[in-house]
Amino acid sequence: LNYCVPRTRKEIFETLVKGLQRLEYRGYDSAGKALDGINNNNIVLIKKKGKVKALDEELYKKDCMDLEVELDTHFGMAHTRWATHGEPSALNSHPHRSDKNNEFVVIHNGIITNYKELKKYLNSKGYEFESKTDTEVIPKLIKYVYDNREREDLSFSTLVERVIQQLEGAFALMFKSRYFPGEAVATRRGSPLLIGVRSKYELSAEHIPIQYNTGEATEPISMFKEGVQEKNSHNRPDISNAVNSVEDGKAVEYYFASDASAIIEHTNKVIYLEDDDIAAVVGGKLSLHRLNRLAGEVPVRAIQTLQMELQEIMKGNFEAFMQKEIFEQPESVFNTMRGRICFDTNKVILGGLEDHLKEIKRCRRLIMIGCGTSFHAAVATRQVLEELTELPVMVELASDFLDRNTPVFRDDVCFYISQSGETADTLMALRYCKDRGALTVGVTNTVGSSISRDTDCGVHINAGPEIGVASTKAYTSQFVALIMFGLMMSEDRISLQTRRLEIINGLRILPELIKKVLTLDKNIKSIADELYEQRSLLVMGRGFNYATCLEGALKIKEIPYMHSEGILAGELKHGPLALIDKHMPVIMIIMRDACYTKCQNALQQVTARSGRPIILCCQDDPEVSKNAYKTIELPQTVDCLQGILSVIPLQLLSFHLAVLRGYDVDCPRNLAKSVTVE
Ligand code: G6P
Repeated sequence: LNYCVPRTRKEIFETLVKGLQRLEYRGYDSAGKALDGINNNNIVLIKKKGKVKALDEELYKKDCMDLEVELDTHFGMAHTRWATHGEPSALNSHPHRSDKNNEFVVIHNGIITNYKELKKYLNSKGYEFESKTDTEVIPKLIKYVYDNREREDLSFSTLVERVIQQLEGAFALMFKSRYFPGEAVATRRGSPLLIGVRSKYELSAEHIPIQYNTGEATEPISMFKEGVQEKNSHNRPDISNAVNSVEDGKAVEYYFASDASAIIEHTNKVIYLEDDDIAAVVGGKLSLHRLNRLAGEVPVRAIQTLQMELQEIMKGNFEAFMQKEIFEQPESVFNTMRGRICFDTNKVILGGLEDHLKEIKRCRRLIMIGCGTSFHAAVATRQVLEELTELPVMVELASDFLDRNTPVFRDDVCFYISQSGETADTLMALRYCKDRGALTVGVTNTVGSSISRDTDCGVHINAGPEIGVASTKAYTSQFVALIMFGLMMSEDRISLQTRRLEIINGLRILPELIKKVLTLDKNIKSIADELYEQRSLLVMGRGFNYATCLEGALKIKEIPYMHSEGILAGELKHGPLALIDKHMPVIMIIMRDACYTKCQNALQQVTARSGRPIILCCQDDPEVSKNAYKTIELPQTVDCLQGILSVIPLQLLSFHLAVLRGYDVDCPRNLAKSVTVE
């Protein structure tokens, strides 16, 4: 919206396509866009099933658009969809519209839980629906409010305000209307939304004030530093009051997005919206509103500077983001530890937890909550956390935790582990525990995410943006961050000092050991060559490596679409053994740790049934190797860190299997990176 330099419609379209492509990893079964048509008094919708590329091609088929025309102010919006209600199709993709004239159009992330009631009501008022989505009630509803406004002169943001009062569920919404050309209104509740602000003048404001409907309206403020001007410009804006000046329409661009990666190439200045904030851009001026001021609320939103670099979200020379991220692990794990472990004094400091450490130490149990891979990070570290904190540790899948109405008390400390920080189930579990008075701790990879903002304290894992849908580097960084938490908790325990030292030394050389594991890539590719036509693959282990079995099996399901199960070796004889014969591929993890002998017993049971196990073991272990069909030999590290090394071959295996089976590694069917719906 509003261009620093006038832009052609084509440039605007390309900016939107690029933004969508950066977000495609979050969900991608269809995509759509809304742009102003000629004369700005009609809205052109372009929607397409499939990837963003298909949408891009579609534009050039539209002869109603003058692509070369230069625009000073223009508002375009675009969306990629991951189907929840209604199959993937052009009709079900966003933007959705109020009527055939596209009077109001809307894009939506999230889910409207009361859409059936709203649809029934709107149907009874004569509104006809064309899609099978929950979203479509929103444009119909805003048109209904507009059509029934009687003589009230309602602003666009007031219309939106009235609409969201009727909505239940989770949403991030962006509205466009032919009645309000060049204006944008956005709002959120439960789904992420941020605004990127770009200007050719330096921004001076650090905060944007919020206007409340009930009193205390604050004046919009200038966002530009006085005296910072474009060189040799005779026709410069009135910088001291730039936001209100006539020229400012050319001074600022606003980018609304659900994820910073969509906008990072344009600006690193962002404002994160809170639930029920309504952001409106009118006449080049951004204002934020809320219905009512909540007790204790700070009436401003900060303009934050993102540290993310564009390069971090580019694929470089790798075939896929997943592959790039697997190979980044020596650095990402290092970045998780950077500045937090002092190897001279053996002190571990997680700044985000320091103020709450006393309280955490007094708690009666730790509850670790997450979904998918993030849950596996909790499973992987549970044992060492029990050992270092001397507290009972529960690990919970967020959905199941909520289904059970799990008892939670004021003296519990609840951890929310989430790469994105936006997973709906995990967020709901967070709200559930907050309501019960527990102390909440976020472990996320996304600064500014809902979980990092809504928890009492937390740790950023600093792995850098993870784009591949199958989580890899976030897992190993979550693993390390949780171990560092254990080390921080045990600093005063004399009896644990030897163990702490051993782990800290292990962490110090971990990046180097990861590099060694990555050199096994060729060996793993040759194993994939043998396995890729199989239907099933079992992954078995126990103790510190059980989580690797779960996580490895998840990777093999997610990307190559093979059936795979992570099996606790201790449970082998209680069922899974029935599956073993010479045809069933089995991967076994047998490391030199306290479970070594027990794992060897499992190995005997497998080979006795003619199984041909591929074994992940420590280097130079002839005892194990002699019973293996194939081995993948890993460097040995401290038992509780071994899972970081043992998961990497399985990440690589999943990647190679998917490539060999001909699948798109970064776009697995039916899956999304951030599941922001329940
Ligand atoms: C989705 C992703 C998984 C991820 C899970 C939890 O299902 O496809 O890869 O592990 O969500 O995501 P989070 O962002 O909370 O770690």
